[in-house]
Amino acid sequence: MIPLFKVAMNPEAEKAVANVLNSGFIGQGSVNEAFETKLKERYKNNNLVTVNSGTSALQLALRLVKDKHPEKKYIITTPLTCTATNWAILAAGFEIIWADIDENDLNINIVDVYMNKLRTDVAAVMVVHWGGYPVDLNKLKRLQEHFKFEIIEDCAHAFGSFYDNTMIGNSGNYCAFSFQAIKLLYRDWETDRKSTRLNSSHEFVSRMPSSA
Ligand SMILES: Cc1ncc(COP(=O)(O)O)c(C=O)c1O
Repeated sequence: MIPLFKVAMNPEAEKAVANVLNSGFIGQGSVNEAFETKLKERYKNNNLVTVNSGTSALQLALRLVKDKHPEKKYIITTPLTCTATNWAILAAGFEIIWADIDENDLNINIVDVYMNKLRTDVAAVMVVHWGGYPVDLNKLKRLQEHFKFEIIEDCAHAFGSFYDNTMIGNSGNYCAFSFQAIKLLYRDWETDRKSTRLNSSHEFVSRMPSSA
């Protein structure tokens, strides 16, 4: 196996994981509940639930959409994403309609969705906030009012992103996050947003930990 990179690990992580393993609750337990409570506080949103992965969260959202629109067959989605986004669509029994991507931000191209892809049997449009850059949700919501599809947001890259002064994840759509090992997680958004702002890819490389 070729090691592409090594994820930096907080030295306290080992003990914290060992505590959970020795607690007897390795599924749902008090640590999980504390985490969920903190997330609810941060988002000021009680309609929030933790599951075992971002993929499961996407599948859950898609199953809810399937239950709501059993007669609809298709999900419009973007090709530029992790395979998990689009496998989840197939796993839920939908078929995929591919949209183009926008050359400016690499997110789904909403003009293409509108002009070429929308039809009455589309159950949902899946968007991915690629690299944390928010999709233009207002534009999509205007289309939603006419075409009556659901919006599913794959927020795997967007923990800590904002759109229109609202935290990504709080739009009222189905939103799925991932806490997989290489996702960027912000502890204190206001402070971290300032301290992690980089001016160039060179600065990014120079600030990487030497063990990485
Ligand atoms: C855009 C995107 N969606 C979904 C996933 C899947 O998340 P998880 O690995 O937590 O299942 C990932 C990455 O892992 C991702 O990058």
